[in-house]
Amino acid sequence: ARITVDEGRAKPISEDLIGVFFEDLNYAADGGLYAELVQNRDFEYSETDGNKDKNWNSRYAWRVEGKSMTFDVSTEQPVHPNNPHYAVLDVAQPDGSFTNTGFDGIAVNEGEKYDFSLFARTPDGKGGGKTVVRLVDPQGKTVAETTVKLSSKTWKKREAVLKATATVAQARLVIIPQSAGRYALDMISLFPQKTFKGRKNGLRADLAQAIADIRPRFVRFPGGCLAHGDGVDNIYHWKETIGPLEARKPAANIWRYHQTRGLGYFEYFQFCEDIGAEPLPVVAAGVPCQNSGIGGPSHHSKDIVTSLGQQGGIPMEEMGQYVQDVLDLIEYANGDAKTTRWGRERAKAGHPEPFNLKYIGLGNEDLISRVFTERFTMIYEAIREKYPEITVIGTTGPFSEGTDYEEGWALADRLKLPMVDEHNYNTPGWFIYNQDYYDHYDRNKSKVYLGEYAAHAPGRPSNIETALAAALFLTSVERNGDVVSMTSYAPLLAKEGHTQWRPDLIYFNNTEVKPTVDYYVQKMYGQNTGSEYLPSTLTVDNRRHDVRSRVGVSVVKDGESGDLVVKLVNLLPVAVKADMEIPSLAGHQAVGQKTVLSGRPSDKDAVPVESAMEIGEKFPYEMPAYSFTVIRIKRE
Ligand code: AHR
Repeated sequence: ARITVDEGRAKPISEDLIGVFFEDLNYAADGGLYAELVQNRDFEYSETDGNKDKNWNSRYAWRVEGKSMTFDVSTEQPVHPNNPHYAVLDVAQPDGSFTNTGFDGIAVNEGEKYDFSLFARTPDGKGGGKTVVRLVDPQGKTVAETTVKLSSKTWKKREAVLKATATVAQARLVIIPQSAGRYALDMISLFPQKTFKGRKNGLRADLAQAIADIRPRFVRFPGGCLAHGDGVDNIYHWKETIGPLEARKPAANIWRYHQTRGLGYFEYFQFCEDIGAEPLPVVAAGVPCQNSGIGGPSHHSKDIVTSLGQQGGIPMEEMGQYVQDVLDLIEYANGDAKTTRWGRERAKAGHPEPFNLKYIGLGNEDLISRVFTERFTMIYEAIREKYPEITVIGTTGPFSEGTDYEEGWALADRLKLPMVDEHNYNTPGWFIYNQDYYDHYDRNKSKVYLGEYAAHAPGRPSNIETALAAALFLTSVERNGDVVSMTSYAPLLAKEGHTQWRPDLIYFNNTEVKPTVDYYVQKMYGQNTGSEYLPSTLTVDNRRHDVRSRVGVSVVKDGESGDLVVKLVNLLPVAVKADMEIPSLAGHQAVGQKTVLSGRPSDKDAVPVESAMEIGEKFPYEMPAYSFTVIRIKRE
């Protein structure tokens, strides 16, 4: 093959092409990125949260050991009305203990410190003097111990630090009252002190770092389907997720588990800032999943969607308040810390400076019905009027195979939306043979955010075939980086044993982070984005369409460093020798660094390999069979 790069015809492209899609799905938040180690800390698990067979209720993940202690759940005079349930331990004799088993156990590391806290009261004025708190390994050995004093007639927050003397993957938290009495306990919490950037109420450092390593230019949150919920009552309201933890409103997760909302809007904004990514919150457009309130999330066929639809969103008389809530979100992110109500709330949480919100997603894969259109338009117009500087990203509608998003685009055209969110889950073959997909998009219409996409192969693995299909398609996205502004592979995180959706970018358990090969493609792109696209000609010595489609090239220039980045994808079972020509390198000293990801199509464990390479105005490069190569060229 011959590849000739023409720097003279460079065109500007979006610098925000690679981002991440975070949805609280697959235990991505509680039990995942959110570093809380106690499960059901708020005693708010309920039957409506989960699948019936899971027997979810306030007692979930808690148990009592010893005969002289009982454990009940009460709702009388709770810590906060948003958090009505709490545990009541009746201790006849101090010989029992109250245990939390964490999310598949509690992982602790030798020498590290853990912040324990709880809210407690001893309503009868008896007992509670000293209470022992321990971390215990599966054999019953204590690996950390401290004490707290719990006597108080009214709710009091108590805190203590536990230091682990051993590394244990599946410890449990044990609370051991030392005197008889009645104990009311709530918000029982344990956090590692080593969170990402050391934040209190923070994120798991290893997982957050894996996300940061992609160098995402934006983070979309909190979903996905989670954002619009599976009924009007399940719509995600950002105001329920800020402020003191005990005052946040827990909720049923559309993916059938419990959300504490400990990872709420403040924490999302803070995480974005910590990793230098633009926040991209997605709020419901006044309607739940397919305007229905029926069923859970899935990719509905067009027929099912139509029969489910038209059933309603937030009642019109309540829409005024909902629109205000969305405007308030922008004020929460950007408003002045002293003179605006929601800016003050942000400052109270410890962040007087604005978060500089630029984007807001409105709706997610919603059926483009009359009910939706009315509500979407109301919210959109209100944002446009009050905050014209904010880019509102609409939705093109439900994804189903072969969809052309006709209704969504018609609405976007009518309202002249700045950007729309398209989703695309398809076979590897689709991504390979549709590289011209965005070539024909009208440059005068809305820009595109490819907000969810992934190559789905039978059995839904992430392997070299799916990863290279995505890498190849992304070369065409870079070529169209004047109309496609942002992309995010979906979903991002999945906890082993608690996964509702496959494939995902990063799998994990309590102690390990397991990036997929698709993750490496995102990372190789994220770390090698550009602000200009340099057209190139690729001549493959083979006339067959299917052969030609399986080799891709994209060259971009990083405006800041001036580096050129060549991306080469070879989805053929044989190596391809390429003669590279970059005439604009003439007269420059250039050094190259290449990163290569390759393997057999079914490989799931391949990792990218980096090495230096010699670069000149002309140089040869052999693309290995089934490979993705990034060559970064620095010129003097
Ligand atoms: O990414 C998983 C789901 O796929 C998202 O929640 C939804 O938007 C889409 O259907």
